[in-house]
Order: sequence, then structure tokens, then C-alpha cells
Amino acid sequence: MTHFYYAACTLGLEDVLADEIHALGGRRIENRRGAVAFTGDRWLGYMACLWLRSAVRVQEELARGQIDGREGLYELTRTVDWSQSITHLQTLAVDGSIKDSFANDTRFPVLVVKDAVCDQFRERVNKRPDVDKERPDLRIKLVLQGDEAILYRELGGEPLHKRGYREIQHKSPLNEATAAGLLLRSGWDKRTPLCDPMCGSATFLIEAAWMAMDRAPGLGRAFAFERWRDTDVAAWRRLYDDAEARAEAGKANLPPLCGNDRHPGALSIAEQAVAKAGLTGRIALHHGDAADYVPPFAPGFVVTNPPYGDRLSPDEDALVGSWQSLGRFLHTQCKGAVAWVLCGNPELTRHLGLRTNQKHPVHNGPIECRWLRYEIDGAR
Ligand SMILES: C[S@@+](CC[C@H](N)C(=O)[O-])C[C@H]1O[C@@H](n2cnc3c(N)ncnc32)[C@H](O)[C@@H]1O
Repeated sequence: MTHFYYAACTLGLEDVLADEIHALGGRRIENRRGAVAFTGDRWLGYMACLWLRSAVRVQEELARGQIDGREGLYELTRTVDWSQSITHLQTLAVDGSIKDSFANDTRFPVLVVKDAVCDQFRERVNKRPDVDKERPDLRIKLVLQGDEAILYRELGGEPLHKRGYREIQHKSPLNEATAAGLLLRSGWDKRTPLCDPMCGSATFLIEAAWMAMDRAPGLGRAFAFERWRDTDVAAWRRLYDDAEARAEAGKANLPPLCGNDRHPGALSIAEQAVAKAGLTGRIALHHGDAADYVPPFAPGFVVTNPPYGDRLSPDEDALVGSWQSLGRFLHTQCKGAVAWVLCGNPELTRHLGLRTNQKHPVHNGPIECRWLRYEIDGAR
């Protein structure tokens, strides 16, 4: 049976996500704004949660129809057999988004969907599931666009970028799925020694290590679909075991990885995250200013997310100083390397003293950024 899926990602990384979905065997792949729609079998949904590095959410479509208001939405919701997903002893939550529809905001339509689901349970077993907005067993997503309504169930539960290795947040961390998507976009070959001279909590380095060792980003965490009644548990176990075996075998393939940051707090978060990600001893971390950083090996590839103001907001001079330091590092330590730099403020890039030869627009949270490629002295 064909299932219809919808995976969300960071704005600007749709092509990267579409490539990942294609590689997993997805069909009828269509890019949307900040998302990719695709079809496949039920096992593809499990694989998507386990393997997609650049996705933040995967949803499965359960119903779609034209509606004229409350009644239509109630009836559409009742066309789904909700007992296939959960029992009355489990929990649910309904979220919604709305554009030009019968209601002014999502509050009322979301309530209609919740009532329709609970009424179906009450009629059958005289009991209804409770609502748990934080960690429901079943999160239903309602999308209202004009007179069309779509109902999805969210496979992952917790967003997919929450890999589980970062318990404490650095001030301005890069979302794990964004970092992975940027690495995929950069075309890094997973073998060239890689460095992040302003690594913060080491997101790029951990995602790079997991990519290089073929470790699925979803290993070691739980997904909502594991708690559903219609999940093929045996097949899921096989997919999971296979991913574990690949990660174990892939440990031999880790290239040299190193990072540096001048903020001791960030480095201690990085060290904890590296340990939690199972990478102790596999990423060389260093404390100091990037301008003086001498990596333990010659980096052939640099990826980094320097400060550009909006969230860390140091003063202008400090920002300029950071970019000058990065420029100095690239010029002195990275001859022949390719560097990719994320920038949310075009005024700052000139302080690198380098000319970019590729620019990709991408969002970092609310900030519109560019992912910039540089070739340092003689790089190809
Ligand atoms: C936007 S954050 C990077 C976040 C990182 N990508 C993450 O996921 O956690 C920028 C980092 O650059 C570091 N930094 C700024 N100027 C620096 C310099 N001159 N030398 C070394 N690190 C610097 C800051 O301490 C901060 O951790």
C-alpha cells in the first residue's frame, strides 16, 4: 500500500532533503517550501525517521478532503480509524496550521478534530484517550488551506533534530538537522580531514562523524510510531538492528576531525556532547582564539558557523574581530583547503580576505543566511 509522507526541513535545504529521500527509496518526491512530500511503503516511514539527517519532522497523511466548516471537518476526521494508532489508554495531541479557511485561527478546528477522535473511541469502548500536549503517543497535525483539510500523524514525536547528544544548549547552537543538511550541501566526501575552528557545542563535528561512520541519526532515541498499534514491530527491529550494525562497522571509517572555540563554557558542552554521541577520543577539541589555533593535522575541509550578531549579539567590533580571526586561521592553517562558512550578515564576510565562489541561501532559525564556499590558496 502506498503511504503519503511529508517531511519538514530548514528553509533552503529542500533539495538536500529530497536527495536523502530519493536515496532511501522515496517516490513521487516533490519539494515544498521548507518541506518535501513523497510516497512509499510503511517501512519507508520508519526509515525516514531513522536515517534522514536534514529532516526535522516526518508526517504521514491519513485523510484529505474538501470541507465547508465544522461538520465537514468532524466527518473527515471520523473517516480515519484512530484505534489503528493508539488505544484509549494512550494519549494524543492535535496541532494545526491554517490559511484562508473557515475559522480565524486553529483553536476551534483543532478542538473539532480532538472531539471527533475522542467521540470515535467513546462510541466503541466508552472511554477516550487523554490529551498530553508535551509527549503524546499520537500527535495529529491538521492543515487547513482554503476549503481543503489534511490530517497527518507525526511519526517521530520529538523533533528529529533532537538526536539526544545535546542536553545543555550552547547560546547559539546550530540545529542538528541544519548542520547535517549544510554538510550534505557542502559535498564533503566523508574522508577529507575536517575542522571547525569556532565549533561552539560541536554540532558540525558530531554530525560529520556520524555521516562518515554511516551512523543513522535516529539511533539511540525513541519515536512515537514505536508506540502505535499498527506498527510492524518486527520489521522496525530489523531496520534498527541493521542500522546499529552499520554504525559499529563504520567506526573504522572516521576521518580526522577537530574543533576549537575560545569560549570555555561552549567547549565543555562540546566535550559532553561528543561523549554522549559515542565519539570520545575521536574528535580533537581545543580551547583558544581561532587566530592562534594550530590544528593537530592539516584540515582539507573547514565548516563553521561564526557569530554574526543576531543571537549572540556582541558589539560590532567583537564580530569583526571574530571574522578577522577566522580569516587569519584560514590563511595560515588551511592552505589548499575548501572552507564553508555560514553567514547571516553580509557586511562581515569581507573581513575574511577571501572571495566566495558559491552561495546558497539557507535559514538558521529565523535568520536568513548564506552558506558560502571558499577555496584557500590552491584549493581545487
Ligand atoms: C554561532 S556560535 C557556533 C555554534 C555552533 N555551530 C554550535 O552548533 O554550537 C559561534 C561560536 O564562535 C565562537 N567564537 C567567536 N569568536 C571566536 C574566536 N575569535 N575564536 C574562537 N572562537 C570564537 C564563539 O565562542 C561561539 O561558540
